[in-house]
Amino acid sequence: MTTLSTSDRDLTDRIRDEVATDLAARWPESADGVEQLMHYALAGKGKLLRPLLVCHSALAVGGDLFRVLPAASGVECVHTGSLLHDDIIDGDAVRRGRPAVHAAFGPARAILAGSALYFAWFTALEECARRGVADGPIRRAMAIQARAGIEACRGAVDELALAGRPDCGIDAYVGAARRKTAALLAAACRTGAVLAGASPAQEAALAAYGESLGLAFQVRDDLLPYTAAPDQGGKPADSDLRNLRPTLPVVLAWQAAGPADRAGLRDAFATTASGLDDTMRRLAHLLTRTGALERAREAAELYAHRARTALDDLTPSPYVHALREFTLQPD
Ligand code: IPE
Ligand code: IPE
Ligand code: MG
Repeated sequence: MTTLSTSDRDLTDRIRDEVATDLAARWPESADGVEQLMHYALAGKGKLLRPLLVCHSALAVGGDLFRVLPAASGVECVHTGSLLHDDIIDGDAVRRGRPAVHAAFGPARAILAGSALYFAWFTALEECARRGVADGPIRRAMAIQARAGIEACRGAVDELALAGRPDCGIDAYVGAARRKTAALLAAACRTGAVLAGASPAQEAALAAYGESLGLAFQVRDDLLPYTAAPDQGGKPADSDLRNLRPTLPVVLAWQAAGPADRAGLRDAFATTASGLDDTMRRLAHLLTRTGALERAREAAELYAHRARTALDDLTPSPYVHALREFTLQPD
């Protein structure tokens, strides 16, 4: 049985270590075939946000880490699988600071490893059952992840339809971000809650927290190409522009822009690979000058604030405090 003490080390670091150890034991470095690919995908330096959401949510409602740990790892497998596929869709060759799986092993293997990582969720859930989680919560957790996974695919397809559309509007942007990213973060929180036997009110509070956190998180991800050091973002800085994605700063700039800046945005969204660096510089300048970057930061903070407010419905504890920490902008 896993025990925790909050005295000597930061709680989140301790749980992150537990998750990392559990994940590392699943597919060893010496594996071959699809398991080698799964190992490679999981060995990159991800933040492990989603498994931490599972664990903290479970612990916040009185759950037991040992019982939910496989589900936390399973949720990270699903997320990592989605990144393998996302990098093929977006044509991004770098992920988590090293060659993406499709760049290192080819797209066919990356597709198959991504699919295998999705299925790993089911075996992980079965492990939770063996660790003592009752059938009812297991069934519910399965349904929660299934619905969120379909929602994420729906969001990714919506996003494809928005490509090249800086004029798509805030509602279309938020709708796609809610489905593509927030649904899986909300599902991670809900999964931890359900597996730990949360009340409906606790589950609802954690789901509301996860959804708002997810929106804040996606907007911060949109801002990374303009704010992060080149090696700090998970993906290449030119990815969104190269894929003609109307990220929130772009959508906000369109709203604030006069005819000349709208023409500039249209040009940026008709760019070709050869002019990408120059277009990126001009776009960053336009987004700064129109105040769009600042307003996107404010939007991220608004969603983060909503996430913190949702936590007010839970009994205060170190775990709820740790969830709150995730809403704060990292340095
Ligand atoms: C990247 O997620 C995909 C988005 C939803 C923006 P993370 O930023 O959590 O990626 P890792 O897991 O830390 O690599
Ligand atoms: C994130 O897509 C959604 C996923 C669940 C894969 P993005 O394309 O915005 O994520 P990054 O920026 O590549 O990490
Ligand atoms: Mg991507």
